[in-house]
Amino acid sequence: MNKFKIAVSALAMIAVTSGAYAEEIVIKFSHVVAENTPKGIMANKFAELVAERLAGKVKVEVFPNSQLFNDDKVLEAILLGDVQLGAPSLSKFGKFTRKLQVYDLPFLFKNMDAVGKFQSGPHGQALLASMKSKGLVGLGYLHNGLKQLSASNPLRVPSDAAGKKFRIMSSDVLAAQFEAVDAVPLKKPFSEVFTLLQTKAIDGQENTWSNIYSKKFFEVNEYITNSNHGVLDYLVVTSEDYWNGLDAEIRDELNKAMAEAIAEGNKVASEKSMSDKQKIADSGRSEILTLTADERAQWVDAMKPVWAQFAGEIGQDVIDAAVASNN
Ligand code: LMR
Repeated sequence: MNKFKIAVSALAMIAVTSGAYAEEIVIKFSHVVAENTPKGIMANKFAELVAERLAGKVKVEVFPNSQLFNDDKVLEAILLGDVQLGAPSLSKFGKFTRKLQVYDLPFLFKNMDAVGKFQSGPHGQALLASMKSKGLVGLGYLHNGLKQLSASNPLRVPSDAAGKKFRIMSSDVLAAQFEAVDAVPLKKPFSEVFTLLQTKAIDGQENTWSNIYSKKFFEVNEYITNSNHGVLDYLVVTSEDYWNGLDAEIRDELNKAMAEAIAEGNKVASEKSMSDKQKIADSGRSEILTLTADERAQWVDAMKPVWAQFAGEIGQDVIDAAVASNN
């Protein structure tokens, strides 16, 4: 080998060992909502921060609007390595853990501050690791907001929902919640809700103001009851093997970027709840119903017995801690 060739191969060797030729890591983040929602904004913010801080090393590709997977498929896809990140609502982990069902109990949290308090406390933090044995790990909670009931008829008291079909997320607690008012719950993917409402295959659904607005449910349901009867929040989730297999420095940077992106999403969540509700009111396409104290009490009385049904699976200590976060 002449001197020139020796120098070139020595340089190549240095480049390889120093990682200069290391392949860029691509992290696919799949979710089901629109980009202009707390989750959409959080996912895009994460991609942006990673592009700034880990350029050439890691790239995050975000797939919104169920482009890649519905939430009933995304967790398996993460375990198979087809995508690396998802953030399904806390109502969609039933196949992997029964503990997260606490978040679906109707009328458990009085407001989003209480939800945040529970999530940052010991029980909420322990739940992040509730799927470890199944290979999934929670990187953090993200808020969306409190759920409202929308329907083609006005829902003022529980008997107004009797016999009506409601789309629900894939949660047994949510099924029990609607059965408690003699309604018919149907577990369906988020991507199908608009068409199901439009074609009158279902009568109503429950969701947050930002989802009702961004997916135009308010254009195909005439009434929205401002019920605040439950919470819709998310768990940002990945495969434990995948995350632990990343280089420690890169993982630290990703964790930092994720924490900042979640903080941004949470800030947007409360603003969006208010502004999207206002946009719906201004549209004149559906009527927003405010419950009287007596009407609300009737929903609470009808739905609260669901707690006892699931206390065994969730753990009474977890439910008690959630209740205590309201103080
Ligand atoms: C739903 O299915 O209604 C929600 O989980 C959608 C979402 O991710 O906010």
